[in-house]
Amino acid sequence: MFSISKRSEVEPFHAMDVLAEATKRRAAGHPVISMAVGQPSHSAPEAALKSAREALAEGRIGYTDALGTAGLKSALSRHYRDRHGLEIDPARIAVTTGSSAGFNLAFLTLFDAGDAVAIARPGYPAYRNILGALGLNVLEVPVTAETHFTLTPESLEAAQKESGIRLKGVLLASPANPTGTVTGRDGLKALAEYCAAHSIAFISDEIYHGLTFAGEEASALELTDEAIVINSFSKYYCMTGWRIGWMVLPERLVRPIERVAQSLYISPPELSQIAATAALGASEELDRVRASYAANRELLLDRLPRIGLAPASPMDGAFYAYVDVSRFTNDSMGLAKRMLAEINVAATPGLDFDPLEGHRTLRLSYAGSHGEIAEAVERIAVWLK
Ligand SMILES: Cc1ncc(COP(=O)(O)O)c(C=O)c1O
Repeated sequence: MFSISKRSEVEPFHAMDVLAEATKRRAAGHPVISMAVGQPSHSAPEAALKSAREALAEGRIGYTDALGTAGLKSALSRHYRDRHGLEIDPARIAVTTGSSAGFNLAFLTLFDAGDAVAIARPGYPAYRNILGALGLNVLEVPVTAETHFTLTPESLEAAQKESGIRLKGVLLASPANPTGTVTGRDGLKALAEYCAAHSIAFISDEIYHGLTFAGEEASALELTDEAIVINSFSKYYCMTGWRIGWMVLPERLVRPIERVAQSLYISPPELSQIAATAALGASEELDRVRASYAANRELLLDRLPRIGLAPASPMDGAFYAYVDVSRFTNDSMGLAKRMLAEINVAATPGLDFDPLEGHRTLRLSYAGSHGEIAEAVERIAVWLK
């Protein structure tokens, strides 16, 4: 009998149990409101859909260059000029199959098996799982009120000292999932400088850019050409299912990424690249969607503390409230299951994001419609009374 690899023994997404149950209940006719998934309820922008329809009518969708079409890379370069005042050579941009492929490519080209990479705890669970599956060591560094819920040179130093692990990489998301933390320019600069001084690769996940509601949204590219920046059309651009992301790379990393990408993915999907190029010009429509998240956020900031669900972290960006449920339970997974069964509201238990402390937290996504979010909060309020 063949054996199954050790590398595949990654943690499951606990949230999937809740999600599967939510889908089942909805199919059975229950009025389920999902605050569990990190995806916009809005569709891709009209301009993206129009371009995709036209391309489909023409019919021929094929491979593209492994690192994406020249059209999308030029449009992304213009995006950095318009939004950040930066001149980014399109040759430094790699288009990827969602940011998820970007993580694979970055980890494979930067690190060898056994190397160690620091991530924040709580943090996006796929980081831990991808790194683990690739045979890399993960150093989870706690982020708390003391460090303003972000990584700092001091917290990285302390974690290395305590564990005896020397880092080869640091990965930080700003805005962050699930904490909503926005790491401003000074914080990013301190991390970039620390990494440069210690020959550590600095990977900046900027997938929630465009969704900063408080604080300063800076790109690591404003501070250094050495950062590996990863971004995506999934969140601000409302294009999760199109599976398109991008990276901005230090020049010397472009060819290694290209070599690995050629064999791993051949190319990102062409239809999605066509749609994504058009989406970059749709900021009027997308800013209206963003305004609806802002209204949802205001509602949650007002209501959650009053119903005993104080945010456990700042809610400055992305579209999540990470709330402390310890007043009610020590078992957030059980709470999420009961909430779904009894009032048809789906939320994500904190264990996915924080294996140590997540039994005391829940993540609520506010990327849904305002009416749905308001209704969900009222159901929760009555239920918790
Ligand atoms: C912080 C963060 N990074 C990356 C991703 C992956 O997104 P995608 O592969 O759709 O670009 C997500 C998805 O939720 C996320 O929250």
